[in-house]
Amino acid sequence: MREIRVELGERSYRIAIESGILADIGKSLQKFGFTSKASLVSNPTVFGLYGACVTESIKAEGFEVSVIIVPDGEEYKNLSSVEKIYGAMLTSALDRKSVLIALGGGVIGDMAGFAASTYMRGIDFVQVPTTLLAQVDSSVGGKTGVNHPMGKNMIGTFWQPRLVWIDIDTLKSLPRRELLSGLAEVIKYGVIWDEGFFRLLEENRDKVLSLDKDILSRVVQLSCEIKAKVVSEDERESGLRAILNYGHTLGHAIETATGYKRYLHGEAVAIGMYAEARLSRELGLLDAGQLARIKALIEAFDLPAAIPEEVDPRSLLSSMKLDKKTVEGDITFILPEEIGKVRIHKGLSSKEIEKVFGNKD
Ligand SMILES: NC(=O)c1ccc[n+]([C@@H]2O[C@H](COP(=O)([O-])OP(=O)(O)OC[C@H]3O[C@@H](n4cnc5c(N)ncnc54)[C@H](O)[C@@H]3O)[C@@H](O)[C@H]2O)c1
Ligand SMILES: [Zn+2]
Repeated sequence: MREIRVELGERSYRIAIESGILADIGKSLQKFGFTSKASLVSNPTVFGLYGACVTESIKAEGFEVSVIIVPDGEEYKNLSSVEKIYGAMLTSALDRKSVLIALGGGVIGDMAGFAASTYMRGIDFVQVPTTLLAQVDSSVGGKTGVNHPMGKNMIGTFWQPRLVWIDIDTLKSLPRRELLSGLAEVIKYGVIWDEGFFRLLEENRDKVLSLDKDILSRVVQLSCEIKAKVVSEDERESGLRAILNYGHTLGHAIETATGYKRYLHGEAVAIGMYAEARLSRELGLLDAGQLARIKALIEAFDLPAAIPEEVDPRSLLSSMKLDKKTVEGDITFILPEEIGKVRIHKGLSSKEIEKVFGNKD
């Protein structure tokens, strides 16, 4: 089994990664000293595939499990779903030493984590992520939350899980488009942190796409390691953690401009990564060869790189200015200087930004 420790003092925890470990989740809960009542939060899609395996495994260790099903979809990541989760937890009489288990993608993980962080002022939770995006990104790092009608992820907490349990076999049932979307975040880790990892992706494209166990578990491990390192240094995003936003400054604006309908998150991030790399090139920070490699890897994983024709660069600019990470209108960009190294860049003029984002190639 591959294991990573996320070092956060008394909030440190373990990420376990392997193929075929879903049925061992129950045993892995034993040593935490949780009381016997547990709740499992999932959606009908994921619960239908893996719910029986997980609940049986937990019950076999003596836990009494109540199952909480939230409808599938980002539109249900809201406070009214959280209220239902609280209600179910109260009905099952979960106490302050009980555990909440999130089984699903990032939507379930964010929402269950938020519920756990606020139920009785905070109880323990365990992440069992089942999408690639959740395995390499959202389940690690402790950001939880829900959407508000006025903005995505506007309500949330920092609340670290006690354990992240990743069975890469769950990716076999994931729709290909969701898999590719998760790979955008994986490419991101290569660009921001590790050229060797980027090369591993270049050299093993086919194995990654055919879900080769060795390569896939390595890819998930390396991704989690990079995220864990960044988060350990800057848990609450006062500095370094911002680099995880590479591709996201523009990516979020693309999602907004297209009404969150046309692109999955990772697809918008892929467009953002290439555009921000072009911005870096334009400023003379990145050479043409490295830019070409970034584009080629994005396209090798069938992800989009170009900004869609119909999107107006001025609308992108105004939406980036409204982003919650923008302070006083000064947009922060994460710009690659070479593959494996980025810098946090501020103070660009609207003209410089529009010039690059107006050029759609
Ligand atoms: N907390 C963080 O740090 C963080 C980071 C990135 C993203 N997020 C959040 O994550 C969410 C997106 O997560 P996501 O991309 O995992 O989407 P998701 O949770 O909506 O899952 C995508 C789809 O795949 C289905 N699914 C999940 N696992 C499956 C499996 N193994 N087989 C078949 N189908 C499966 C789901 O039911 C859903 O329909 C967003 O709300 C985003 O804000 C959070
Ligand atoms: Zn992302």
